[in-house]
Amino acid sequence: MSEQGNASREAVINYFDGSSRTAIIHDREVPYPEGKLIVSRTDTKGIITHANQAFVDMSGYTQEELIGQNHYILRHPDMPAVAFAGLWETLEAGNKWHGYVKNLRKDGAYYWVKATVIPNIRNGEVVGYTSVRRKPSRSKIAESEALYATLK
Ligand SMILES: Cc1cc2nc3c(=O)[nH]c(=O)nc-3n(C[C@H](O)[C@H](O)[C@H](O)COP(=O)(O)O)c2cc1C
Repeated sequence: MSEQGNASREAVINYFDGSSRTAIIHDREVPYPEGKLIVSRTDTKGIITHANQAFVDMSGYTQEELIGQNHYILRHPDMPAVAFAGLWETLEAGNKWHGYVKNLRKDGAYYWVKATVIPNIRNGEVVGYTSVRRKPSRSKIAESEALYATLK
C-alpha cells in the first residue's frame, strides 16, 4: 500500500500496561505548526485530562476522543521504550523532563515535538502532569532519530 509515494505498514504496538493495538503507520511527516504550543495534562497515571486546540489539530483526534484516553494513544512504534521509562522515572522523582518525541497521529502519519513535562503539585502532592511541546530543530530531529534507532 502507498500514499503519496510513501510506504505504509501495519505495526502492533505493545503498551507497558500489557495492552496492545494494531496501527497503520504511514511514513509521512506532518511538520510542527509554526508558533504553536501543543499542550496536554494528564492524571498521575498518564490519562489525558486536558488537550488544547493545537493538540487536537495535530493528533487528528477530537477533544472527546482524547479526554480519558491513556497518553500512549500517540505512541509511535519507532519510539524506544527506554525513552518513556526515563520520562516516568524523572516525573515520579518529582522532576521536569525534556525530550524529543515522535508521535503517531490518528491517520498514521507522524510529527516530531520537543517536549517539556512537569509534575503538577497541589498541597505538596503530585496530582498530575503537564506537557508543553514546541517545534524541534531539524538537527535535533535527525539526532534523535539516529539515537532512537539504536535503542529499539
Ligand atoms: C503529561 C504527559 C505527556 C505525554 N505525552 C506523550 C506523547 O506526546 N507521546 C507519547 O508517545 N507518550 C507520551 N507520554 C508517555 C505515555 O504516557 C507513555 O508512557 C508512552 O506513550 C509509552 O507507552 P508505554 O508506557 O505504555 O510503553 C506522556 C506522558 C505524560 C505524563
